[in-house]
Amino acid sequence: MQRTFVMVKPDGVQRGIAGQVLSVFESKGLKLVAAKLMTIDKELAAKHYGEHLGKPFYEKLVNFITSGPVLAMVWEDHDVISVVRTVVGKTNPAEAGPGTIRGDFGMTTGRNIIHASDSPTSAEREINLFFDKSEIQEYTRIDEVWLYE
Ligand code: RTP
Ligand code: MG
Repeated sequence: MQRTFVMVKPDGVQRGIAGQVLSVFESKGLKLVAAKLMTIDKELAAKHYGEHLGKPFYEKLVNFITSGPVLAMVWEDHDVISVVRTVVGKTNPAEAGPGTIRGDFGMTTGRNIIHASDSPTSAEREINLFFDKSEIQEYTRIDEVWLYE
């Protein structure tokens, strides 16, 4: 089983669509194993977005991600990293397909509602940055037998 780190960014929380975003993953059949509303400080933002340090949009990105509460989550399932990236859609919501979260809810790259880990290495790193092991739940979804043959 695989885990991924997903976060509704401050724009999604402020616009009151955090619940709808979470619901997309629940309806898809993925298992929510951790969630918390929190405000990211500059230090955590710098660690999380370290790969973008030096890029022209870095400062704006850090200011944005620390500007208000985010809904941080861990989702678990088969191939969940790639499934979640598909459901999230392209980085620029204007180009993201219909039916994707960014395609359905957003208009511009700097306000693209959601973050999702892009690889197993990122997922492990990001989950450890945001969650203590004790905050991650283990359980069986009651509908598992109806989601997988
Ligand atoms: P994310 O990390 O948030 O899930 O998004 P992503 O993988 O689709 O995109 P990534 O390349 O990792 O970029 C991280 C976030 O930085 C902002 N960004 N702005 N050209 C720009 O102005 C620009 N490029 C990226 C976006 O908020 C993007 O989600
Ligand atoms: Mg990324």
